[in-house]
Amino acid sequence: MAQEDLKAEQELAAIRALLIETYGIEGDISPLPGEHDLNYRVRAQDGEQYLLKLHAPGDADELDMQVAVLDHLAKTAVDLPVSRPVPGRAGASTVKAMVRGERTARLLTWLPGDIWAKSASRGLTSAETLGHLLGQLDQSLKGFAHAGTKRVYAWDIGRADMHLNHVGLIDGDDKREAVRAIFERFASSVRPSLESCLRQVIHNDANDYNVLLDDEGRVSGLLDFGDMVETWRVVEIAVAAAYALIGTADAVGTIAALAGAYHRANPISEAETALIFDLVRTRYAVSMCMAAKQIRDNPENTYLLVSQEDVWRELQRLERENRAIAIARIRDACGFAPIAHAASVVRWLEQNAHDFSAIVKPSVAKPKVAVFDFSASSPEAAQWAALDATAAEALIAARIREQNADYGIGLYGEDRAIYQGDAYETATAGERRSVHLGVDIFAPALEPVHAPFAGKVAFLHDDAVAFGFGPTVLLEHVTDAGDIFWTLYGHLSRETMAKLTVGQPIATGESFASLGATQENGNWAPHLHFQLVTDHLGLEGRMFGVGVRDQWQVWHEVSPDPSVVLGLPVPASVIVAREKDFLVRERHRRIGRSLSIAYSTAPLKIVGGEGAHLIDEDGTRWLDMVNNVCHVGHCHPRVVKAAQMQMEKLNTNSRYLHDSLVEYSRRLAAQFPDPLNVCFFVNSGSEANDLALRLARAYTGNRDVITVDHAYHGHLSSMIDVSPYKFAGKGGEGRPAHVQVAEMPDLYRGRYRYGDVDAGRKYAEDVRNQVLALAANGRRPALFFSEGILGTGGQLTLPEGYLHEAYAHVRAAGGLCLADEVQVGFGRVGSHMWAHQTQGVIPDIATMGKPIGNGHPMAAVVTTEAIAASFANGMEYFNTFGGNPVSAEIGLAVLDVIRDERLMHHCRVVGDRLMDGARALAKRHAIIGDVRGYGLFNGIELVRSRETQEPAASALDFVIAEMKRKHRILLSSEGPHHNVLKVKPPAPFSAEDCDHFLNALDETLGRLNH
Ligand SMILES: Cc1ncc(COP(=O)(O)O)c(C=O)c1O
Repeated sequence: MAQEDLKAEQELAAIRALLIETYGIEGDISPLPGEHDLNYRVRAQDGEQYLLKLHAPGDADELDMQVAVLDHLAKTAVDLPVSRPVPGRAGASTVKAMVRGERTARLLTWLPGDIWAKSASRGLTSAETLGHLLGQLDQSLKGFAHAGTKRVYAWDIGRADMHLNHVGLIDGDDKREAVRAIFERFASSVRPSLESCLRQVIHNDANDYNVLLDDEGRVSGLLDFGDMVETWRVVEIAVAAAYALIGTADAVGTIAALAGAYHRANPISEAETALIFDLVRTRYAVSMCMAAKQIRDNPENTYLLVSQEDVWRELQRLERENRAIAIARIRDACGFAPIAHAASVVRWLEQNAHDFSAIVKPSVAKPKVAVFDFSASSPEAAQWAALDATAAEALIAARIREQNADYGIGLYGEDRAIYQGDAYETATAGERRSVHLGVDIFAPALEPVHAPFAGKVAFLHDDAVAFGFGPTVLLEHVTDAGDIFWTLYGHLSRETMAKLTVGQPIATGESFASLGATQENGNWAPHLHFQLVTDHLGLEGRMFGVGVRDQWQVWHEVSPDPSVVLGLPVPASVIVAREKDFLVRERHRRIGRSLSIAYSTAPLKIVGGEGAHLIDEDGTRWLDMVNNVCHVGHCHPRVVKAAQMQMEKLNTNSRYLHDSLVEYSRRLAAQFPDPLNVCFFVNSGSEANDLALRLARAYTGNRDVITVDHAYHGHLSSMIDVSPYKFAGKGGEGRPAHVQVAEMPDLYRGRYRYGDVDAGRKYAEDVRNQVLALAANGRRPALFFSEGILGTGGQLTLPEGYLHEAYAHVRAAGGLCLADEVQVGFGRVGSHMWAHQTQGVIPDIATMGKPIGNGHPMAAVVTTEAIAASFANGMEYFNTFGGNPVSAEIGLAVLDVIRDERLMHHCRVVGDRLMDGARALAKRHAIIGDVRGYGLFNGIELVRSRETQEPAASALDFVIAEMKRKHRILLSSEGPHHNVLKVKPPAPFSAEDCDHFLNALDETLGRLNH
C-alpha cells in the first residue's frame, strides 16, 4: 500500500472510532470538499445520514458562533431546513479529535438536495423559496447575539467602503471604473440610507454553493453559518439575490421574487426595498475586490478567476437595467406601490381635471375623435406596417375627414409591434418594450399644442433618430401636496425647441409647442405623443414612450393613463393583456384567495365563448361541459342583441311601469302550473332562496327549516345556514339550531338502493323524522328545501315518490315546500321544464337562477298568490336591480331561444345518448360505478370496486386533468366523496360533442387501467 493510501486508511479508522465512541454511530464515511475544514458524509447503518465536520484550529470565536447559532435555531426555528447539531454521548456539541493534528469535531444532521449551482431544477421558485427561508431565518436570528458576529468583516457589504483601496488591484479599466462607480454610489447614497434601516445578525452567505434544492427547485437546505455578521438586515437579501440571479433570464425579476418572498415571511421597509438593487451590485464590487486581492496573494488560484467571470457578466447585465424600474419592481413584489407618489398624482389630476385646458384645439368644446388601432393584434396591423410615414399620414387624414372628426387618437396601453430596433430591447433576453405609455393625437404638422395645466419647461431633447421621439418637451408640474410629475410631448417641431428654454414657466392653455412634420419628428405621420410621467427614471428628456408588457403593473404607475387629462368622449386606453402567472398573483392579492380558480395548477385564461365552447387567449376552443349558466349557449346572439338593444334604450329600477317586466312575469309564471302565478325578481340564486325563506316565514309564522344532507342553496349567511355542504364542510360552523337535516336519498350508496321500489317513501320518512324532532320541541317547519336532482349531493336523481311523500309530511306540519331550480331548471332535464316535475309534485315556491339570464346576473322566485299576499304586510319589498328592463328583455330572449330552438327536446335526445354511451363504457371500465341523471344534468360515479363502492376520487382527478389536457374538454367533480364526474354543458352541446366526450372518456379511462 502506498504511503498516502495508508495515511488515508488510518485517518478513516480514526474517524470511524470517533463516531462510535462519541456518537455511537457506525456507517460508511466519504470525504467531501472543504477549504479549511475536513468534511465527511456519514451514512449510518440505520439509514440516517450526517455531516461530520473536523474544524482546523483557527478562529475559536467563529467556531463557537457557528455552534451557538445552530443551538439557537434548534430551539427557535425547529422547521427551518438547516443542519441540526447532534450532541455526543456526553451531551457536548463539539469534541476534540486528532486527525491531521488536533481539530474540533462536530456532527450535524444531513440536509437533502442538490447544490443550487449544480441543480438542473433551479428557477424562480428557488429564488422565492430561498427568500422565504431567509425571512424566517432572520426572524429567528433577531433574538440571537454572539460576540463572534460583532466583527469588522471584509465580506460585510455594509462596510463596502473598506475595499476602496483595493479597486486598483482589479484587472481591466472597465471593471475598475464600474466598481469605483458602485463604491461612489455606496458612499453618497446607499450608506447614508442604511442608517435608518434595521441591524441584526444575518447568515450573510446564502450563495449558490450554500443552498440546496429539491427536484422541484424548492430550497431544501441552507448550509454554512461561518460568515454570519451583525449588519444591516437587508444585506441578507442582497447577498442571496446576487447568486440567485446568475444565469437567469430576468435578473431583476429574480431579485424581486426573492425579496418579495422574504418580505412575506419577515416584512421589510420601503427604505430597505430601495437599497436592494444597489446592494446586489455592491456585493459584486466587493467580490471583485476580494478576488483581486486573493489573486495578488495567491496567483495560482484559477478557481477564483472562473467564479469572477460570472460576477462580471452579471454585473454588466445589472448595469443595463434601469435602477428606478428595478426598485419599482422590487417594491411591487413586496406589495408596495411601485411608484410611491403615483396614486396621489392621479388623485390630484382627477380632482382638478375640470380646470384643464384641451391640448389640441381648445376652442372646440366637444371634439369628435377618430380612434385608430395600432396594436399588434389589430386586424389592420399588417396594413399599417406596410405604409411609410407619408402614406400613413394620408390614410389617417382621410379617415379623420371621413368621420368628420376634429382629430384622431392612438391608444394608451396598446401593445404594438411597430417599435423596431435595439433601443426597445431590455436587459432581459428576448424581452422588448412594446406597450404605448401615452396617447397619440393625430393632427397636421404645425398644429399648436397647449399646456393642459401650468408648469415649467423641465427638459428639452431632440431625439433625432429614426423612429425616435424627435423634438421632445417635458413640462414639470407640482400637485397641491407637493408631488412633482411631468407631462411629456413628443414628435414636436424643431421650431418649438428653438422657442423654449429650460425653467421657462408655461401657463394653463398656453400654446407652447407645435406638431413636427415627418422629416423632423422621427419619421412618423405627424402627431403628438402625450404622456404623463410620475418618474422619469433618471432619463429626463430621453424618457421612454413605451413600456414592458410583462411589467405593466410598474409601467402604468410610471406613466398613468392620460385619459384623465384629455377628457375625451371616447375611451383613449385599453386594458393590457397579462400573462396567467401575473393574473393569478394579482387575483390572490386584490380579489381574495377564497375565490377559487378552476384547474389551479394550470389555469385557463378564457377570452371568448360560442355555443358549448370556450375560447382561450390563444384561440384554442374548449368543450365546456360544466356550464349550465350559459344554458342556451355562450354569447347566444339573440340574448346578446336583446341586452344591447334594451341597454341602448333604458335600464332603470322596477319602480316605473314597463311592458317588458310585466310580459316577462307572465311568460315565466306560464311555465308553472297553477297556483304558482306570482314572480319576484332578484339578482342571484342565493337571493332567490333567501327571499323564499322570508316568504315562507311570513306565510307560516314558523322559523325552522328542513334541508337535505349535502345540499347547497347559496352563499348568503341565511343560505349557508341551510347548506350542509357548507356548514358541515371545511371552515363551516356546524348545523344552526333552526335547521333540521334530512337524510340524502342516495339510490347508489345510501340505505335504500336501486331496485327498492319503496325507497322514495322510506327516504321521505326521515323528512317526517325531522318534522317530529321539531314538534318534540314545540316547533314547526317554515320551509323544506330540496332540488329536483341533488347537485352537490353528487348529481343524484331522486327515488320515485320521494318529493311527493316528503312534501306531504312537511305540509301536514304546516310547512311550505321549495323546489330549488337554480341548477336544474329551464328544460335541462329534457322531459320537463323543471326538474321537480319529474317527481310529479307542485311546490309552494320555486326558485330560479343561473340559466335564467344565460349568464346575466338575474334570478327569480315564483309562488302562489296567497303566499305573496302574506308577505305584503306593510313592509315594502324593493330590489334595486331585480326586474330591471334589461334583465326582463334578457329573460324573455332566453325563454324564446329555449322554445324556438327546441332546446328541451334537444337536452333529452343528447342526454339519453350521453347516458347510453356512458353505460356502454361501464361495461368495459369497471371503475364506472353508476351513471345517472335526466337530460343534460348527469353524474358518472367512479369507484375503486363495484363491490365495496370505495370512491375513486384521485382517479377522477386524473380523468378531469387528462380530459382537459389531452382532449380540451372541461369537466369537474361533485359529490360528498368527490368521485362523481359532473356533466351539465350548455344545451347546444351536440351529438358530435357527446361522441367526442365519450371517445375521450373511453381513451382516458383506458389509460387509467394500465
Ligand atoms: C342549488 C343551488 N341553489 C342556489 C345556488 C346559489 O346561486 P347563486 O350562486 O346565483 O347565488 C346555487 C349555486 O351554485 C345552487 O347550486
